[in-house]
Amino acid sequence: MRKKIIAANWKMNMTQGESEAFITTFVREIGDFDAVEIVLVPPFTSIPKVSELLTQTQNIKLGAQNMYWERSGAFTGEISPAMLRELFVRYVVLGHSERRALFGETDEIINRKMLAAYEQVLRPILCIGETLPQRERGEVESVLRQQLHGSLAKVDAKELHETVIAYEPVWAIGTGKTASAAQAQEAHAFIRKTLGEISDKATAEKVRIQYGGSVKPDNARELLSQPDIDGALVGGASLDPRSFAQIVQAGAPNE
Ligand code: 13P
Repeated sequence: MRKKIIAANWKMNMTQGESEAFITTFVREIGDFDAVEIVLVPPFTSIPKVSELLTQTQNIKLGAQNMYWERSGAFTGEISPAMLRELFVRYVVLGHSERRALFGETDEIINRKMLAAYEQVLRPILCIGETLPQRERGEVESVLRQQLHGSLAKVDAKELHETVIAYEPVWAIGTGKTASAAQAQEAHAFIRKTLGEISDKATAEKVRIQYGGSVKPDNARELLSQPDIDGALVGGASLDPRSFAQIVQAGAPNE
């Protein structure tokens, strides 16, 4: 059984004060709920505050939205894996489509970051997904295959097991257009099959694959009930503590 993992990608939102207000309400809403793994992914400047506040909880983990692959040095504006570890960050989102499209990140760059993350015992949340023109041209599988092979080069089975894949169709991000549960399941099954080819089938069965793209309280349950959807990476709806709490609760296994 793969434990579901639901993460709040706050993107470039949430000051320290706003993060504190969020956590107060969110913790009140979810209590000690731990049927799914919960991860908050604040912007860098709010990480110290969130880290400090989360020491009072057991069931919420901390992630970062990006990092550089070097340990230290003359890399103005960058953050190293060790700097994140020092703040008790466990997960790092890598290869988000916004970083690929706006900041020129390639699969090769993402791969270097992946390998650096494992070295510092950070677990990557690797984002992949096709654009609308790519989907319309029938290229979903070739795009996903290429992103997986490129980003996961030289990653061994143990490291892959610690990795979370986030399938985020670019056309569904921030647009209110969600992939249907069937479309998402089809892509997730293809991703799992490809992971089996890159590594081995038993490892692929253990890897958690999140869906991301306009996940909301009213569509979360259906998406999360698909056999290969093991969680969600939530943008807009994760900025509101009540709506994020509802999404998290929608991930509880059916009794
Ligand atoms: P939205 O939930 O706002 O569509 O964003 C999805 C996303 O990019 C999460 O990483």
